[in-house]
Amino acid sequence: MAISACGTAYLAGLIGKYWFERYARLTVEIDVASEFRYREIPLSPQSAALFISQSGETADTLASLRYCKERGLKIGAIVNACESTIAREADAVFPILAGPEIGVASTKAFTCQLAVLAALAIGAARARGTVTEDELQALVRSLAEVPRVMGQVLNSIQPEIEFLSRELSKCRDVLYLGRGTSFPLAMEGALKLKEISYIHAEGYAAGELKHGPIALIDDNMPVIVIAPHDRFFDKTVSNMQEVAARGGRIILITDEKGAAASKLNTMHTLVLPAVDEIIAPMIFSLPIQLLAYHTALFMGTDVDQPRNLAKSVTVE
Ligand code: F6R
Repeated sequence: MAISACGTAYLAGLIGKYWFERYARLTVEIDVASEFRYREIPLSPQSAALFISQSGETADTLASLRYCKERGLKIGAIVNACESTIAREADAVFPILAGPEIGVASTKAFTCQLAVLAALAIGAARARGTVTEDELQALVRSLAEVPRVMGQVLNSIQPEIEFLSRELSKCRDVLYLGRGTSFPLAMEGALKLKEISYIHAEGYAAGELKHGPIALIDDNMPVIVIAPHDRFFDKTVSNMQEVAARGGRIILITDEKGAAASKLNTMHTLVLPAVDEIIAPMIFSLPIQLLAYHTALFMGTDVDQPRNLAKSVTVE
């Protein structure tokens, strides 16, 4: 299967790739839409292609959709605007039902795109028989938990987010790290922060730290580590040790188990409820989005209409 999209929608797709591959054992080719159609990827008409777009009008995503359509692929579209061109040209439409998203920076569309991608991955796993009935039920149960857990998180983290955002607003650069599905989330955190607060931020796979970005670490550099207590946790902790040894200021976003297991001096540890791996990206995206929002408020930037950006990008 192929997935293509731009910006935040692409990062949702990258998380979807992990899910389709892990649960449905489906290989996923993914790229940003502005590269996808120029790569001359060998695409089979037996394949499906999935395009993700909040607006449904993004020029590069639409051009990639048409590129795949011309080659005979079955086209699915994950959209918010169901009357949009992308929705009209797809064979199957998967609405995210997020309601109108007014702010330029994608927030609720991102979490709703993730919910739809998770549901599709679980559906594909069921159709392909790659998970047992018990596993399937557990996945669906986890997905149904998302609204309740999100409410709980939103009600509990606000004071800590405001404290951390005040600190971030004093910084010039911020590094985000994560492994597994927390890696695209690290990139999404960096994108959101730079987009609305204009602070330079990078999102990296935690394992890539020692291949370059570690050179940036000093006591001026906050490093936001997204690390639920999952299969990758111990590896991420060893990356955090590398940061701590160089004086980096770590903000760890984890869950109760992770907080107990990390045993590292952090500038702050933000503790979220422990949840199943499949819903962690949706839950962990909340502090990521709120950090960007409150940092932008402290910076005095226009949170809804950041400079130089448009809500819908209809030129290539
Ligand atoms: C970032 C953001 C953009 C969009 C991108 C795609 O916060 O909003 O990166 O995600 O321009 O837009 P859609 O989803 O409308 O295709």
